[in-house]
Amino acid sequence: MTLLVTGGAGFIGSNFVLDWLGQSDEPVVTLDALTYAGNLANLAGLRGDARHTFVHGDICDRALVESLLAQHRPRAVVHFAAESHVDRSIHGPGAFMRTNIEGTYTLLEAARAHWSALGGAEREAFRFLHVSTDEVYGSLGPGDAAFTESHPYEPNSPYSASKAASDHLVRAWHHTYGLPVLTTNCSNNYGPFHFPEKLIPLMIVNALAGKALPVYGDGQQIRDWLYVRDHCSGIRAVLAGGRVGETYNIGGWNEKANLEIVRTVCALLDELRPDPQGPCARLITFVADRPGHDRRYAIDARKIERELGWRPAETFETGIRKTVQWYLDHADWVAQVQSGAYRDWLATQYGAREAA
Ligand code: NAD
Ligand code: DAU
Repeated sequence: MTLLVTGGAGFIGSNFVLDWLGQSDEPVVTLDALTYAGNLANLAGLRGDARHTFVHGDICDRALVESLLAQHRPRAVVHFAAESHVDRSIHGPGAFMRTNIEGTYTLLEAARAHWSALGGAEREAFRFLHVSTDEVYGSLGPGDAAFTESHPYEPNSPYSASKAASDHLVRAWHHTYGLPVLTTNCSNNYGPFHFPEKLIPLMIVNALAGKALPVYGDGQQIRDWLYVRDHCSGIRAVLAGGRVGETYNIGGWNEKANLEIVRTVCALLDELRPDPQGPCARLITFVADRPGHDRRYAIDARKIERELGWRPAETFETGIRKTVQWYLDHADWVAQVQSGAYRDWLATQYGAREAA
């Protein structure tokens, strides 16, 4: 029994791998291209752990994916690998089309060939779990009901359009070929190892450096926040008991406006690491809005609760406190990411070889 996890050196993928091996001895093979968002330091706690194999490679490399499936015979593929940042997708959509669409297609084809050749119990047990986002559903108005799994797809950014395309491919590979797929659509995550280009970690690291806290537009856009380890437990629940071919929305019932998030982070920093220059909120700066900025996301997570008994363990208040504290306790990680030194360190430590 083994899992093949793509994108396991990124934010959510690394939390998933660490959590998985924290509660199971089932081995994990992580396949990650180590783009700017992939950081092997996130998995440093597993160095020397025989249950974990890291493979530096691209999900678009069909021969590599096929060889990993043949060699490790995983009982499931858990697919996190993606280009994930909306702002980057606006500046340069090409990488999003390649990884999110072509990469998912490549994985699906390799998984289909592998699964088709399996027999008996192995074939029965095999799963392809595709990790996706609530952004595929588009933007909600203030009084609209939260996204259910049957909400129409209305993606608005190059990122969400590429994720929507990948969701459609996964659906089609099940419908047409019978590949045993599961799809999860989750809301905004936050927590340890979050790359500081995204709202919450950017606000923490900028505030600690005394830099401006850039709030897009009027700061009243709403996101539905979920602590990353709750997302990981949701994925484990879907993998264990989700109905093949089904989609499960995952969310924390935590709708917050961006400005409220930034003020909450500021209040925690004022408490935990007061700045002699004055309250953190003095750094809040309104900047030009994101083009095509979605106004509101909200997840209706009743299906996963009803069918699989999953509920988040953290409230926003407990999760955000843990997160701010994590960044305060991991100044080295932040410094390495900000300076880019984590990439030099990787080259020094691992070079082009596979690291166990
Ligand atoms: P991330 O950007 O932190 O990590 C992505 C990882 O994928 C990195 O380690 C990167 O090196 C790897 N990767 C990128 N291109 C690759 C390729 N061609 N081949 C192999 N590896 C490649 O992303 P994240 O925030 O951890 O998101 C993980 C997944 O969860 C994505 O599919 C994303 O769409 C989805 N998701 C994210 C959120 C969120 O709030 N961050 C919410 C819902 C869903
Ligand atoms: O909803 C799930 C999605 O959440 C995931 O699919 C994406 O991978 C993930 O990046 C995230 O997308 P968002 O665009 O919502 O996240 P981001 O952290 O970039 O922005 C959150 C909100 O904060 C958004 O409304 C834009 C705003 N923002 C962001 C940044 C980086 C700011 O106001 N200022 C900023 O500097």
